[in-house]
Amino acid sequence: MSIHWVAASNDERPGGEWKLGAAGFGYGDDDDQTVLKAMRGKYRSVYIRRAYEVPAKAPRGAELTVGIRYDDAFILYRDGKEVLRKGVEGAGASISKVKKHEAEVWEYFKIGPADPGQKGVIAIEGHNENIDSSDFTLRPRIDYRANGKLYPVIREGASWAYLAGGAPGAGWTRIGGIGGDEAAATRYKFSYRKKGEREWLSAPIRERKFGKTEDLAFSADLGDLKPASRYEFRIVRWGRPVGPWEFETAPARFQDGMSFVTGGDMYGTRAWLDAMNLRAGKEDPLFALLGGDLAYANGTNGGRWRDWLDSWNKCAVAPDGRLIPMVVAIGNHEVKGYQYRPKNAPGREDAPFFYSLFSGKSEGANFTVDFGDYLSLVGVDSGHTANIAAQTQWLGRVLGNRLGIPRQFVCYHRPAWGTGVKADATDIRREWSPLFEQFKVDCVFENDHHTYKRTHPIVGGERSDKDGILYMGDGSWGVKTRNIPKDWKKRTYLAEAQALRHLIKVTLKRDEFLYEGMTEDGKIFDKTTRPLRRGEADTR
Ligand SMILES: [Fe+2]
Repeated sequence: MSIHWVAASNDERPGGEWKLGAAGFGYGDDDDQTVLKAMRGKYRSVYIRRAYEVPAKAPRGAELTVGIRYDDAFILYRDGKEVLRKGVEGAGASISKVKKHEAEVWEYFKIGPADPGQKGVIAIEGHNENIDSSDFTLRPRIDYRANGKLYPVIREGASWAYLAGGAPGAGWTRIGGIGGDEAAATRYKFSYRKKGEREWLSAPIRERKFGKTEDLAFSADLGDLKPASRYEFRIVRWGRPVGPWEFETAPARFQDGMSFVTGGDMYGTRAWLDAMNLRAGKEDPLFALLGGDLAYANGTNGGRWRDWLDSWNKCAVAPDGRLIPMVVAIGNHEVKGYQYRPKNAPGREDAPFFYSLFSGKSEGANFTVDFGDYLSLVGVDSGHTANIAAQTQWLGRVLGNRLGIPRQFVCYHRPAWGTGVKADATDIRREWSPLFEQFKVDCVFENDHHTYKRTHPIVGGERSDKDGILYMGDGSWGVKTRNIPKDWKKRTYLAEAQALRHLIKVTLKRDEFLYEGMTEDGKIFDKTTRPLRRGEADTR
C-alpha cells in the first residue's frame, strides 16, 4: 500500500521556502556558513528555528543561554514565547526602528531555566537595519550554564531550518511534539498504526517535484501490513499532526460479497466529480479501479490534480470513515497533447503529474495488483505513454502467470469495442483481445467515450455467451456525456448503451459476478451477472 500526497509550497512556506542550513546565516564580511546571496537589496529578514533538548545531566538550577553574533537585530522565541529582543521594535513583517549593530563578538544572554531533559523549540527572527546593507549575520548557539561554565545544547554551526525571502506562517515559533535533529530536518513525517494500538509507527517518505510546479509530491510505502485490518495514519507537518485518516487492508482470502467500483473520465466539473466520488464512498467498496482521464490536466495543469486529489480525499470515504484506495490506469488527458497514439506514444516525461504522483510504477503505466490468490487486476497503457503492440508480450505473460487466480479484470482507457461516438481502438482488438479470450479474463473495463456501455460476452466481436469476454465502460464518471448514435444496436456486440454519468459496481460472489451501472444518486440502471469461469467455483 502506498500513500501519496501533494503539498503546495504556499500552504507550507508562504512567500518563501523553509530550508535546512548550518548557522550562521547571512552575507558579507565572510563570517557565514549559509550564505544568503540573494538577500542584499531583496529582503531584510531571516527566520530560523530548531528543536532542542537540555541534556539529562544538566544540574538543577542551570540556565539556558544563547550565544549570538548578530547584525543588526533579532527576536528570540523559546517554545513559542518571546524571551529576548535586541535592537528592533515590532516583529516579522511589521518591524520598525532597527538599530545598527555589528557582529564582532559573541554576546551571551540568559533565556530562562534549563531543566534536565527539557525539550522545546528555539525560533529566532533576524533583521537587517537596511535592505541595502553591506552585511547581515545571524549566528546563534544555545548552551546551558552551570557552575560558571557553558555546556552545549545546540552547537555552533548546527543545522537550523531557515526561511529567507518570505514571511513565516502563523505559529512558526511553536513546533510541538517533536525533538532532536529530526525535527529540524524534516518538514514532514508519516506515521501509522493498526487501529486500537497505542504506538504510532513511522514510515520513511519519499519526495519529488510535482511536475514542473513549485509543489512537491510525497509517498510513504507501507509494507508488512496485516490483511483485513483497519489502520489509521497521519502526516506530521512541522511537528503538527494532520489527520488522522483511516484505510483498511484487503482480506487474505476471498469473502463472499466483496465489491469494487470502476470508471474513468472523472473531472469535468468539480460538482460532478464530487457527486460520483461521494457515491463511490457510499457503496463501501474495497477499492476503486480508475481507468484514466482522471484530473484532465493534460500534463500541464497541476491545480487540477490538486482539486482532483482534494475531492477524492473528502468525498471517496466509506460510511464508517475509511478512505477508498484507488488503483489507477493512465488516459490521454494525463499526457501533453492528449492524443490517442497507439503506435507513436510519447515518453513518460509528457505525463509529468501522473508519474510524479504515482511514482511506484517503475514499469510504466502497465501494472498488476494481486489480492491473495483470489483476485487479480491488470492495467495497461492504451497508447498514451506506451505503444499498444509494445505491451502485448508483457500482457500475455502476466495473464498467463495468473491462470490459477479465479477472478481477473483488465482496465485501460481507450475502448476497443465502443458505442460509436469515436473510432474504436483496432490496435487493441488485434493485439490484446485475443489474449483476453485465451486467458479468460472476466471483464475488461474501457473508458474515454463518455457513455455507458456493456457488451455481450464476445469472442472476436461475436456474441458467445459461454466463452465470451465482457467489456464494460466507457468512462463517464464526472464528465459531460456524448450522444450515442441512434443505430448503436447495429453493433451486434453491444448489449446496452446509454448517455449517463455513472460508475460500475462489481460484486464478487462465490460463484458469480454482479455488474451494476449506477448513477451518482445510487440508481441502478443496468445490471448483469456472469458465472465464475476460471476453474471451479471455490472458496478462494
Ligand atoms: Fe480520454
